[in-house]
Formats: sequence, structure tokens, C-alpha cells
Amino acid sequence: MIKIAPSLLSADFANMGEATSRLSDWGSDMVHFDVMDGTFVPAITFGPAMCKAIRAYTKLPIDVHIMVEHPETYIEQFKDAGADYLTFHVEADRHAHRTLQAIRKAGMKAGIALNPATPVEMVEYVLSICDLVLVMSVNPGAGGQSFIKEVLPKVEKLKALREKNGYNYEIEMDGGINEATSKLAAASGADILVSGNAVFKADDPKEMIAKMHLAKK
Ligand code: DX5
Ligand code: ZN
Repeated sequence: MIKIAPSLLSADFANMGEATSRLSDWGSDMVHFDVMDGTFVPAITFGPAMCKAIRAYTKLPIDVHIMVEHPETYIEQFKDAGADYLTFHVEADRHAHRTLQAIRKAGMKAGIALNPATPVEMVEYVLSICDLVLVMSVNPGAGGQSFIKEVLPKVEKLKALREKNGYNYEIEMDGGINEATSKLAAASGADILVSGNAVFKADDPKEMIAKMHLAKK
């Protein structure tokens, strides 16, 4: 079954512990944690200290997505904060191979993210050392944006490359995922779907996650 990772970006920032503790009751598979630095993207959200604080409220894996410049600077801090996955943007790092290696060495799963305009070829030569590849289906920086369907062929390409070369990464899609677009992402081959607004603003988040789980036939 496809994994669903609700994004705390859409939770009530004044009650993050409570929001985090509800995620497993809703049937979530992971907690998606969006870090923005005000430079790589205009917004500023939260960092390792908040990650450490919410760690106490869930046993689910914490999937940290850092939309920051100089991602290599934060590896130890997120490890110490209890992150399970650490995903950075290839556009923010001239030395992506080294950063992926360092994340693994620190004991986390190493992920690399692609903005909508960034081609798969940008990461082709580091795929053998990726545990996760994140295909952005909105421009990073805010929740509640519309799904960019033109990026779907990147998911198909990543799936084909994984099969051809025997790679092991999971393929994650993030941005504008709702009940309808979850089906498109799943059909293209995504393994993990991030969802902020569609889950947190749903009348019944548990039911919404259950529907998204069924996206993969
Ligand atoms: C966007 C973040 C996403 C965002 C998704 O920069 O990386 O994780 O929270 O939110 P929705 O599902 O509302 O598009
Ligand atoms: Zn994200």
C-alpha cells in the first residue's frame, strides 16, 4: 500500500505536539516536517528544535524535508533531533553526492528533492546512494497550492531507472495532493504521498487518509 505522510506545515503551529500525536490514530505512515529558511524559499517555518520537541509525541518515522541553503550544515542537528529521513534540494547543493553520503553516515535515510523545473537527469548519477527521491508537484514554499501534473513523467522515469538498475530508493510526491491527485501520483509509481491541506483541512482526516491509501490499485 502507498504510504501517506501528512505535512505538519498545515497543522496548528500553536499545538504541534497534539497535532503530531493524532497522526498515527489517523492511519498515517510517516510525519512530514517542512523546514524553510527564508532564503532557499521566502518563508521561514521551524527547525531542529521543533523536530526534537515533536519527536516525543509520535513513534512514526519523521520525514524531514529541508528547503534550505547549505543543507550539509544541518545533518547532525536533525540526527540529534530524532529525524529518520533527511531530504534536501539538489538545487541548493553543489555537492549532493557528498551530502547524501553524510546523511547515511549519520544514520538517517538520505533523500534528494527536485523542484518542478528540475529534470531527473540532475540526480541520475547519485541515485545509487539515495534512499528517497522527492518529486515536488508544487513550487516549494507554501502549502495549499495546486498540483502541477506536468511533473508526473519524472515519477515514471524514476521508477523505470530503479527497475533497470536495481536501485532501492522510495519515490515521494509532495504538493497539492488530494483525493483526486493521489490517484495520478499513485498511477505514475509514487510510493509515498505527502499531504498538508487536504488532510488537515478535511472534515474527517482519518477518512481522507484511508481514501488516499486506496489510490494504489
Ligand atoms: C511545500 C511543502 C509541502 C506542503 C504540502 O513547500 O514541501 O510539504 O506542506 O502541502 P499541500 O499538501 O497543502 O500542498
Ligand atoms: Zn515538503
